[in-house]
Amino acid sequence: MNEHTVRPETATEAPDPIPVSPIPAVNVASVPQRSPLRYPGGKTWLIPHIRHWLKGIEPRPKLLVEPFAGGGIVSLTAVMEGLVDRCLMVELDRDVAAFWHAALRHGPELCEMVQDFEPTREAVDALSQHVPETVLEHGFRTLVLNRTRRGGILAPGASLSRYGESGKGVASRWYPETLVRRVTDITDHAHRIEICRGDGMKQLEAVPDGAVLFVDPPYTAGGKRAGRRLYASNDIDHARLFELLADAKADFLMTYDRAPEIEILVHKHRFHAVRVLMTNTHHARIPELVISARQIFRRVNSG
Ligand SMILES: C[S@@+](CC[C@H](N)C(=O)[O-])C[C@H]1O[C@@H](n2cnc3c(N)ncnc32)[C@H](O)[C@@H]1O
Repeated sequence: MNEHTVRPETATEAPDPIPVSPIPAVNVASVPQRSPLRYPGGKTWLIPHIRHWLKGIEPRPKLLVEPFAGGGIVSLTAVMEGLVDRCLMVELDRDVAAFWHAALRHGPELCEMVQDFEPTREAVDALSQHVPETVLEHGFRTLVLNRTRRGGILAPGASLSRYGESGKGVASRWYPETLVRRVTDITDHAHRIEICRGDGMKQLEAVPDGAVLFVDPPYTAGGKRAGRRLYASNDIDHARLFELLADAKADFLMTYDRAPEIEILVHKHRFHAVRVLMTNTHHARIPELVISARQIFRRVNSG
């Protein structure tokens, strides 16, 4: 069996209407980590799908729009690997958007702040209570809280990482050199990356001609709570989102946690979906759906 073949399920099981993607979820350590943010629900594992999708579009897309940007890994990868000319990241959360503004407009100053910061519990607590006066301070605060809170969660109620890696506590995910390198890479590409703080749904009402879309909304369909726990901004009308994509006429790739409500919407709009099996921290196999208007990933089996 090569890496793209999938073991058929046993004959006694009913065939699953959604085929398994021929491209496996990648081990996140094997693709370049380009985002300075640790993002809950981050899409590093999806990068081989993104490459396959964008490389298959002729001519190369001028613009990739990411209406739910979060940690922005797809936009950053697309621009830095030359898969698109430019990207537009849209993010509703003020803290997350401030980070992107700071990285894109004030990269060198942000890097200095990263290098000078001692991530003690007291320093992190003081920063979390400080009301930032500039976009740079705001973006820096987001970065520190993101890297020191458990799971990178910024939503209200998130707690600090108590023990962290190797018992290093709040500092366990604070790697100044790595962060400076990633911010510097972003600054170097800033002329090709735009961030807009706003509602991604509104952006989808007016997609520029020739743009392609990567859509990764908070997963709240079917009563799932992950999206609410992980992100402060999580109120999405999933049916409306599907309608906007059907109307937009732009090529898109969208990801979703598998939920019956989403399968119904895929069917209703005659979209295509493949399953990608993910292993979570408890080693459970959770299927995520990769959805598109045209068939992008060849069907391997119906299992
Ligand atoms: C699943 S996360 C995206 C993760 C991202 N793909 C990554 O790899 O890091 C969804 C993001 O959408 C943002 N969001 C939620 N509602 C939004 C809206 N209406 N417009 C724009 N962004 C929104 C959340 O704040 C969150 O950052």
